[in-house]
Amino acid sequence: MRILSRVALLSLTTAAAHAATVVYDFNVSWITTNPDGLAERPVIGINNQWPPPRIDVQVGDRLIVNLHNSLGDEDTSLHFHGLFMNGSNHMDGPVMVTQCPIPPGASFTYNFTVDQPGTYWYHSHNKGQYPDGFRGPLVIHDPKAPFEYDEELVLTVSDWYHDRMSLLQPRFMSKYNPTGAEPVPKSALMNDTQNLTMPMVPDRTYLFRIANIGAFAGQYIWVEDHTITVVEMDGVYVHPTETNMVYVAAAQRCSFLLTAKKDTSRNFPIIASMDTTLFDTIPDGLNTNVTSYLLYNPTAPLPLPTPLDTLTPLNDALLLPQDNLTTLPSPDQTITLNVTMNNLASGANYAFFNDITYVPPLVPTLYTVLSSPNSSSSQEDLTTNPSIYGTYTHPFILSHNSIVQLVLNNLDSGRHPFHLHGHQFQILHRSAADEGTWSPSSPSSSSISSFSTSNPNNSNHTAAPMRRDTLVVEPNGNAVIRFQADNPGVWLFHCHIEWHMISGLAVTFIEAPSVLQQTIKLPADHLAACRDRQDPIPIEGNAAGRGGAKNDADVSQWLVLDGQPSPPKPIPAGFTGGGIAALTMSCFTGILGVAVVAWYGFSEPVGESNSASAAAVKTKSPAAAGESGSESGVYTDVDSAAGKSASVVRVKRGTEAVESEALSFGSEEEAVNGVGMATSKKLKGDGVVVDVDAITRA
Ligand code: C2O
Repeated sequence: MRILSRVALLSLTTAAAHAATVVYDFNVSWITTNPDGLAERPVIGINNQWPPPRIDVQVGDRLIVNLHNSLGDEDTSLHFHGLFMNGSNHMDGPVMVTQCPIPPGASFTYNFTVDQPGTYWYHSHNKGQYPDGFRGPLVIHDPKAPFEYDEELVLTVSDWYHDRMSLLQPRFMSKYNPTGAEPVPKSALMNDTQNLTMPMVPDRTYLFRIANIGAFAGQYIWVEDHTITVVEMDGVYVHPTETNMVYVAAAQRCSFLLTAKKDTSRNFPIIASMDTTLFDTIPDGLNTNVTSYLLYNPTAPLPLPTPLDTLTPLNDALLLPQDNLTTLPSPDQTITLNVTMNNLASGANYAFFNDITYVPPLVPTLYTVLSSPNSSSSQEDLTTNPSIYGTYTHPFILSHNSIVQLVLNNLDSGRHPFHLHGHQFQILHRSAADEGTWSPSSPSSSSISSFSTSNPNNSNHTAAPMRRDTLVVEPNGNAVIRFQADNPGVWLFHCHIEWHMISGLAVTFIEAPSVLQQTIKLPADHLAACRDRQDPIPIEGNAAGRGGAKNDADVSQWLVLDGQPSPPKPIPAGFTGGGIAALTMSCFTGILGVAVVAWYGFSEPVGESNSASAAAVKTKSPAAAGESGSESGVYTDVDSAAGKSASVVRVKRGTEAVESEALSFGSEEEAVNGVGMATSKKLKGDGVVVDVDAITRA
């Protein structure tokens, strides 16, 4: 049990009459910690501490974070999730979007004013780095908050991994993980620990500020035997709404009021429970919950949470913003984004908006904006020409102050929490799961919609739609969101499941680029991050680094994108998406069959074949493959222990990590070395997918 030292009972600073400048120095380095008591691991600490500190500011303050990268082996950056950064887009933090990565040894200052209240968080925005622990809460206090409370408690929830992202990422984006199964967390944390106790004063009203700072799992959150009153979501005040449970997806925040009981005889658990529908497998022994306690009585026991049969959280799309801001006018621009997952020629699984998977450009997109030929130069105005930003940043140009509508069609079978940088958007419509793509004429009764004209009978209609910065779209469902492009900047829109950021589920909005050219001046340390590094990054030019200075004589180079970073090619003909699916389905059967054949002594390579299952076990001898050592290849066993058929796979492949999420290795070391024995947990017909290079025994 740990006493509430980390959840500082913040007495509200009596409203300062004028804005302050709040400075944090963050020296970022690797340290070792063990927050779930299950495994020591390296994490990214700040000033040799972990958990990272909370940032506390007040509306109107200037926040300065002086970051020094002492990681030694990794670049970094810092993003302030949910902050508008109006006029300071270059302080937003995503690497290769608004800045260069900060190299080891370098310093970099984030400096901006904060003009919005609420609960936010900060995190590294560099190559899937934040799940290594570089994330923490950021609270913007508001003396004028439209609700009353006595004390404030900030509670982060997070999933937790035992391995560094530098190990997990290549395994995830690997041909040995063709289904794109995301690594399943090892545990869940609250305030980066477990079994936290929060002393309660009877009858006192607490403001709980919850932030999901995790990489992957949404969390159901409830407090036993207490009603909670939601007052804020993602920095948007809402009309107070009572509920028993909230769902807070990765990157979302929710604040609620809770009044402590008068009776102090018992203690009560507060539970965060990971949304296991996101997980491909639930490993034996995984505790998907984390529990803390409202401590009314230190001498009374801490009761185990009562298991719940069903989890029924508040529907966030039904909340009403406290300011009653009505639906924005009809859109000037509607962008439809279809979400899919698919394999590319590398064999790994990628995520796509409209068949484009995000790949970072050679020049940070903001720097392309700032250096591009504009109408004031003698050249053609290319600032609003999407081509210069490259194909795979997936750019959309938004004109200043226009109304933009996004139609999100989730053609994938998983939930996705979509986040828009720099804005809070209105939720005009959200379907239930499995309702397919959006059509204005057919929202079902389970949908939430504010389209009064197209959907007059929907009792869920609201004239003042809920706003937030991160929205969950249901599996095979859809949503329609709307915002005003009133914040010049380069803003990512992406899934906030960090695995899906890694697999490319992002687009880039380039909002009012000519305003940006007039307003943003890059500080010297931002330019140094690009220049003073082993592999300098150009600070001018298009996504392929061509075009150079604003008044470059050869302006035609701006439209040449040769050499732009791009994803692997599509799967060659014959390996269609359907083929991959068939391969996946039949692979398990294939392995069984071939293993049986092998059992009878056929150790010769199997020849080429057109059948999907045979293709799945496309074999070659390890020696012929020219791989070092004679042990590379994948070996299968079959085992029908415990009444259920299990496929046991042995893998040896030099030093390349070959774990698929469908497989689990005996030890970390075995997985890293590609040497292991795995028992598949996926036996329900979706099979095990392995690239079988050789079968030598069964
Ligand atoms: Cu939490 Cu791209 O953001």
